[in-house]
Parts: sequence; C-alpha cells; structure tokens
Amino acid sequence: MNKQTFPENFLWGGAIAANQVEGGWNIDGKGLSVADMATYKPAVDVKDYAAHMEVTTEAVEKAAADLTDTWYPKRRGIDFYHRYKEDLALFAEMGFKTLRLSIAWTRIFPTGEEAEPNEKGIAFYEAVFKEMKRLNIEPIVTLSHYEMPVFLSLKYNGWVDRKVIDDFVRFADVCYDRFGKYVNYWLTFNEIDSIHRHPFTTAGVIPDKCEEGQVERDIYQALHHQFVASALVTKSAHEKIQGSQVGCMLTKLMTYPLTCAPLDVELTQKKNLENNFYADVQVKGVYPKMILKDLENRGIHLNMTEEDLTILQAHTVDFVSFSYYMSMAESGDPDAERTPGNTVLGVKNPYLPSTEWGWQIDPKGLKISLIELYDRYNVPLMIVENGMGAVDKLEDGTIHDTYRMAYFAEHFKQMKEAIDEGVDLIGYTSWGPIDLVSAGTSQMSKRYGFIYVDADDEGNGTYDRMRKDSFYWYQKVIETNGASLYE
Ligand code: BG6
Repeated sequence: MNKQTFPENFLWGGAIAANQVEGGWNIDGKGLSVADMATYKPAVDVKDYAAHMEVTTEAVEKAAADLTDTWYPKRRGIDFYHRYKEDLALFAEMGFKTLRLSIAWTRIFPTGEEAEPNEKGIAFYEAVFKEMKRLNIEPIVTLSHYEMPVFLSLKYNGWVDRKVIDDFVRFADVCYDRFGKYVNYWLTFNEIDSIHRHPFTTAGVIPDKCEEGQVERDIYQALHHQFVASALVTKSAHEKIQGSQVGCMLTKLMTYPLTCAPLDVELTQKKNLENNFYADVQVKGVYPKMILKDLENRGIHLNMTEEDLTILQAHTVDFVSFSYYMSMAESGDPDAERTPGNTVLGVKNPYLPSTEWGWQIDPKGLKISLIELYDRYNVPLMIVENGMGAVDKLEDGTIHDTYRMAYFAEHFKQMKEAIDEGVDLIGYTSWGPIDLVSAGTSQMSKRYGFIYVDADDEGNGTYDRMRKDSFYWYQKVIETNGASLYE
C-alpha cells in the first residue's frame, strides 16, 4: 500500500435515503410514510429544530388527508424514482465503489400490515439493484431511514407498540428474500439515537398519543422495541443471506468540555456516554448498567422480557456505522452561548467555524470519534454520512464549491490519520452526493451534493442534474484512492 493511499478495497461512495430522493410518493401502490407528513416551513428559522419537528395527531391527520405535494417536499424528493439510471450513471462516473440507500417500507408494505408485499415496489428496488450491479456499485442498504408507514404511527403510536416489531421483521424478511442476491451490507435503523430528538420521524411516536406525563417512558419503550427488532433482523439477515454483514448506525455527536473545569468535564462525559449507549446495546448485546440505573432513578420503568434480553445478547451487529457532521461543547454555565448542530443545540466551541446552519465544522473531531469508537467496540467502522449543507450559487453555469472540497479534504485527511493509527475503517459514504431534500428542514436549498439538482424549496425547476466542481475533485480522490489529497 502506498503510504498516501487509503486501504485497498476501501469503499468510497455516497449515501441517500428513499424519502429524501425518490419522490413518486403516491404511485405504484406506495403508502404514506411519516416523512410524507413533513412540511416545508418558510416562516420558521432553519435553526429552530423544535418548531420544525413539532408533531400533533391533528397535524399528522391533516397532512395525511392532504393529497398535494406543494408543502411536502419529501413527497417530491428529487425524482430519483424516475431518474435513478441517470443518477447511478453519474455516481459511477465519479467512481463510486458503493452507494448507501434505503428501502421505503411503504413501497413494500403500504400500511405496514398487509400480508403480501406490493410487487411494484419490489420491482423498483430490483431494477435499482440490478443497475448498481451492472455499474459495479456495492449497495449498503438501510432498512429504516425515517420512513415508517404513517398508518402504524396513527394506529399504534408507532414503535411504542410491541406489535410493530413483527411488522418490521416481516418487511425485512421480504427485503432479504427478494434483494439478498444483490445486497450484502445492511444497516438496521438510521441514527437509532435520534428517537429522543425527533420521536415521530424516527419511530412514529406522536407525543399527544402517549399516556399523560409518560412521553419520555414511551419513547424509551419504542427505542427498546427497535433494539429488539434490530437484533431480530440481524439474525434473519445472517440466516437468509450467506456472508451478509449487518451494522448499527448512530449519530456521532462528539462533545467536548468547554473548559477543563471538572463540572464541564463531568457533564461532557455524561453526554458522550449517552451518545454511545445506542451502539453499546447493538454491539455488546446488553444495556449498560449505568443507563439502566439512570432510567430507574428517573422513575422510567420499561417492559423488557427475558426473551428480549436473550435476543439482544444473541444477535449483535458485525460493524458500526455512523454519521458525523459536527461537534459541540458542553458547559456547566447555563448562559454559555449555544449553536445548532444536527437536530441538537450545543454549546458553541470558540475554536471552530460553523456552516450557514450553525453546524460547527470539526475534522479533528472525526478522527477522535473514529479512535474512540474503534477502541470501544473493536469491530470494523464505516462512516455512512458526512458532509456540509451549503447554499450553492450558480456562476458561469456551474457551481464553484471550494468550501465543500475544503470540508471534505480536511475530513478525509483525519480519516487517513486514524487508519494509520490502526483504526479499521472500511468505508466512507458522503451524505447527499446529489442535492436532496433536507431531513431537518425539508429545504432543497441546503445542498450537500457533488451534483446539483435544479429545484428550489417549493419544487420549481427542471430537476436537471449538473456536475459541480467538487464532482471532479471527488472523482480524483476516488481514482487515486486518496493520494490526490496530498498532491
Ligand atoms: C442525518 C440524517 O441525521 O443528517 C439524514 O440521517 C439527514 O437523513 C442528514 O439528511 C443531514 O441533515 P439535514 O437536516 O441537513 O438534512
């Protein structure tokens, strides 16, 4: 191996999610998902996640009855449903070895409760996987990326009800049976920890449907059901697809103490332990004792059977994947200045610059995260989301996105340092290699891509694709397996 290159067979690529790209929300038998309820709110500050994520039964029922897409950009996506061949060809042109994508549960089971899957939904993904195979792009498939049937949310309050475990296992089994010949890498739940930040998007939980005063408990109960489901579908992947590799996926929210005051350090330690807890359960197969004690101290009693605990222990994941966009600080000072991150509000770190959305750019934090996670779990790691949301301006008919290239270059160099220090990092998929609809704010104008999509926040535009400067830059990184970063 050349000293300046990444490991041989390193999986370079990009990541997308069905609900943010596909569109085609009401065709070929697709049912409504929780993502189809997300509205674009031009009057709300993009940094005010609480307002963007607010959910009530009344609002969800109203959205479900509204059969237009004007205020629901995730219903439109970027029309990947019809343009996937063009998009995959562009990814192949960049040299992608892999593409992470998700399967919309509602294309396969429109309400989640059907006994038989929707063949048209299956045909779509089969066509996508066949095309990827032809282009030599290895799929990494997320089974649940904020896309549960809204029907299950309204009827059962989503994952709060144990019954949803069976519905999800049935869905996963169909995916394995029908797509197993194309797909080897599977992720169970995208950012499983995000259930605490946006319970509806992640798990279909609508707070006003919870027992009074028990929202927190119900969210933990829903999380527990997702953990059990994750273990069951890990088991099933291993049984049904020979050689399959299953990973958990968490939001790496690296937190630093604002100062070395012991209180700042203590609060930071708590945050980081909490952030790692989700992977702990999926990799080690047990709940950390301190988390159980914390739940007890808070009077949160969960319904966990002996059988659940046996399942968790028996079917742990093969690798850990995570998203990494930003880091934040923590402080004991209640007046410390705060700034938004990925659906969080953290303390501002005076040493870091921020994106236009306030997310603090911290390449070194990625290396620190890699080292921490590898030391903690000792299993292969994959970075399955990373990138910078920015407003791109068309100049001379293209986008000169030097800021994006700089962001990636610094993060890639930190990945290389971690690898050189012994971390087993097997792949990297940038978030949104093609512009797509934002998960947090439903904006199109928050762009992550190497490929520009001509569409605005309200869905105006041709949806034509265009290569940005960063397209050629990333192509070179992949072609030289990282060596071009050091030229
Ligand atoms: C991750 C999600 O948390 O962050 C993606 O898995 C999301 O779905 C990404 O798009 C970036 O967040 P946003 O709000 O900028 O789209």
